[in-house]
Amino acid sequence: MGKFYVTTPIYYVNDKPHIGHAYTTVAADIIARFNRFLGRDVFFLTGTDEHGQKIQQAAEKKGMSPKEFVDSLVPVFKDLWKLLNISYDRFIRTTDPDHVKAVQHIFMKCYENGDIYLGEYEGWYCIPCETYYTEKDLLEGKLCPACGREVTKVKEESYFFRLSKYQEKLLKLYEENPDFIAPEFRRNEVVNFVKQGLKDLSISRTSFSWGIPVPINEKHVIYVWFDALTNYLTAVGYPDDEERLNRYWPADLHLVGKDILRFHAVYWPAFLMSAGLPVPKRVFAHGWWTVNGEKMSKSKRNVINPFEVAEKFGVDQFRFFMFREVSFGLDGDFSFEKLVQRINGELANDLGNLFNRTLSMLKKYRGSKLPAPKGEFDELDAKIKRKANATVEKVIELIPKGELSKALDEIWQFVSFVNFYIDRRAPWTLRKEGRDEELDTVLYNMVESLRFITALLYPYMPNSAEKMASLLKIKKPVNEWRIKEFSSWGGMEPEAELEKGGILFPRIEYDPETGNVREAKTKKG
Ligand code: MSP
Repeated sequence: MGKFYVTTPIYYVNDKPHIGHAYTTVAADIIARFNRFLGRDVFFLTGTDEHGQKIQQAAEKKGMSPKEFVDSLVPVFKDLWKLLNISYDRFIRTTDPDHVKAVQHIFMKCYENGDIYLGEYEGWYCIPCETYYTEKDLLEGKLCPACGREVTKVKEESYFFRLSKYQEKLLKLYEENPDFIAPEFRRNEVVNFVKQGLKDLSISRTSFSWGIPVPINEKHVIYVWFDALTNYLTAVGYPDDEERLNRYWPADLHLVGKDILRFHAVYWPAFLMSAGLPVPKRVFAHGWWTVNGEKMSKSKRNVINPFEVAEKFGVDQFRFFMFREVSFGLDGDFSFEKLVQRINGELANDLGNLFNRTLSMLKKYRGSKLPAPKGEFDELDAKIKRKANATVEKVIELIPKGELSKALDEIWQFVSFVNFYIDRRAPWTLRKEGRDEELDTVLYNMVESLRFITALLYPYMPNSAEKMASLLKIKKPVNEWRIKEFSSWGGMEPEAELEKGGILFPRIEYDPETGNVREAKTKKG
């Protein structure tokens, strides 16, 4: 089935992680887990972006050296990934020695190919965004067009990358690979940006020192974005381990937020072309979270802390919510009220209750022993199988492309269909009317559907899927399930003795005044 290489951005470690960091990382985790299920050799990379002026300044404020400062924050990111169940294969730090080597190597490749020259940069720089601007890019009052903060005037000797040379090549890349940038509307934005003309890009600085030195001129440190983007190559063995590089490169999917799409879809492929390397297959840009309709910011004190959300509401509840509430690719709004609604309405009611009612009926009618199906008695008995298989097919198409909300929507339609199936096939009536063989089929179909749901929800909610599998008494851990042994309908062994019932997702009550969360006393799902 081949390989799949998926990446998150590497995060600046100037502060603690927030929901935006959790968002992309969970997305990548879902995609990695699903690709493993498909039997692919997955490489999942995340990490931290540790160089640059912003980090140097943040460290100075704390009275620490930059390295001490980043060392103090990296464990917080790692702890969060542990809590959120992130199955990354490598956590890369741009201060790792192999990365420093890779950056210097690719810099020299571009230099030797005639794409890097020494000049003088005069213009504006936004330190929080680590981005260069010309005067006409700025907002009134000389503010950064991306973050609205003050920019700094810069005039210094600098190495430049001949980005202008790549304009046509990039346009050709977008044209020939319509899937290279997603979603489609973002692709159009990038194409328009490139069509307006590309200027050469300053890729070194001399006014501070926290960065990777330019190999041929130690006065300069390499621009933090040139450094950071290269992490995707370092992690797969560039430049020395050719076998590994050939195996995993090009990346199948870079996941990024919309604000950093330009770096990944314009600069990065140009650097790679210059160095004679293949470009990634796809860059998917997601939207931004606001909080109760407002931009998240420290000054508004509305920054959503992912540790708190996961600890209070549950890791899987949080993971599910992020991809269910907002279509992945668009902007969305976070609120605790919406989170509670999704938990109670969809996880406790639709899904939790589906498991509980199925197991309860099995207990009541067959002493918890799964009967063998006895054939099809009704059009719906055929339809549920077709739906299950069709859902798998659609999810296989959607998740590897990064379409996480569309895939979840398909899965949820199946969950709803199974609930509908039970209501329509009414096992209680079959029982009352003594239609025993038909009841066997319906009970079997209900349980078999739960097995499909478990496999499909596993990438989104790995812990809950393990719980679901244990209710179904399937011994093999879900993270070892593979599509080839899974795909066909009929995998549940008749005669198996299942659990008698169980609460997967308790209903909760949330008090917006105090922020307290507790299990609801009534109506468990
Ligand atoms: N270090 C660079 C990335 C280098 S990748 C080679 C960087 N780091 S960051 O820590 O500032 O941002 C990381 C990610 O967080 C970006 O993808 C950004 O879009 C995302 N988010 C920041 N705020 C966000 C929201 N409010 N909502 C969703 N994602 C957000 O940029």
